[in-house]
Amino acid sequence: EKGGYDHFMLKEIYEQPRAIKDTYRGRLLADQGLIRMAGIDQNMEKFLNANRIIIVACGTSWHAGLVAEYIFEDLARIPVEVEYASEFRYRNPVITDKDILIAISQSGETADTLAAIKLAKEKGAFVFGVCNVVGSSIARETDAGAYTHAGPEIGVASTKAFTTQITVLTLIALKLAKAKGVFSESRYHEYLTELETIPSKVEKALQSNTLIEIIADVYKDSTNCLYLGRGYNFPVALEGALKLKEISYIHAEGYPAAEMKHGPIALIDEHMPVFVIATKKGHYEKVVSNIQEIKSRKGKIIAIVTEGDEQVRDLADHVIEVPETLESLTPLLTTIPLQLLSYHIAVMRGCNVDQPRNLAKSVTVE
Ligand code: M6R
Repeated sequence: EKGGYDHFMLKEIYEQPRAIKDTYRGRLLADQGLIRMAGIDQNMEKFLNANRIIIVACGTSWHAGLVAEYIFEDLARIPVEVEYASEFRYRNPVITDKDILIAISQSGETADTLAAIKLAKEKGAFVFGVCNVVGSSIARETDAGAYTHAGPEIGVASTKAFTTQITVLTLIALKLAKAKGVFSESRYHEYLTELETIPSKVEKALQSNTLIEIIADVYKDSTNCLYLGRGYNFPVALEGALKLKEISYIHAEGYPAAEMKHGPIALIDEHMPVFVIATKKGHYEKVVSNIQEIKSRKGKIIAIVTEGDEQVRDLADHVIEVPETLESLTPLLTTIPLQLLSYHIAVMRGCNVDQPRNLAKSVTVE
């Protein structure tokens, strides 16, 4: 059942090229210049007339929501707010019938997310679900939705659910960008064709596994780690830190790289590994200067870079390459090495990777 892998988590990490393909199969028709998604097509007017989109989720799904915020605003020019479901439902939020709520949930059973949906429905918002588990409570409770089609995710640490959620949300953003006319035909085509190359690029990113194992061995006894990224890769930093915390029990924090100087930089010394996402597109030069700041305080730098990068290679203690892609699609690639790193560190520490302590796969209590 683990398909020859030692753990479900590793199997699910390696399934991502296939899972992403399954997510866009039948939806992304690049040669026809078309994205077909019934749940969006049937409600296009609502999406086009919406004042804003509110995304609610928990944990890793919330991180996918943060990536989606960048994508929706950047590509479709629709204002987005991303909320922890548990905070949103209890803070008397302002919701109107001009709002669209998108709930993201792998299991479709998360209690707080479900409660947030019910609240938004009472206030008249249109509610759209992005779930993995077919027929789950959230899938049934929402007005419309799109499944991720990632296949069953057994490992408690979410991996393929995250990348497929981002894939679905990207498809939606592209569809809306096209319908709103904010995208030129050529830009739209560039995105569709690039999206089709992502599974093979994820495959390529997975080939760093041996190098990542070596790096994991160097840092497995750390007590604290920092994860930094900017723009589209800020949520990836949060997700990298969460993955490490939950399966290896090492304290880790994700931060927007530029926020470091507002506090966390005080933590940096020769014992602090700092994982930095420093891909070519997206504030590269700014991240390079953040790396210099870490280096001058003797922090250990493990950088996720674009293939062929030389500048960061000269500064960092370790670099892990990912293929080049459009900036908004980079999270689909930069997430991969961080998943593998957490996995190997947890295994080396003797942790129960698939069933970490104190955690359940779906959190059905608030
Ligand atoms: O099933 P959901 O996507 O609603 O679950 C949300 C979180 O409980 C979940 O992502 C959790 O944070 C994972 N264990 C993270 O790996």
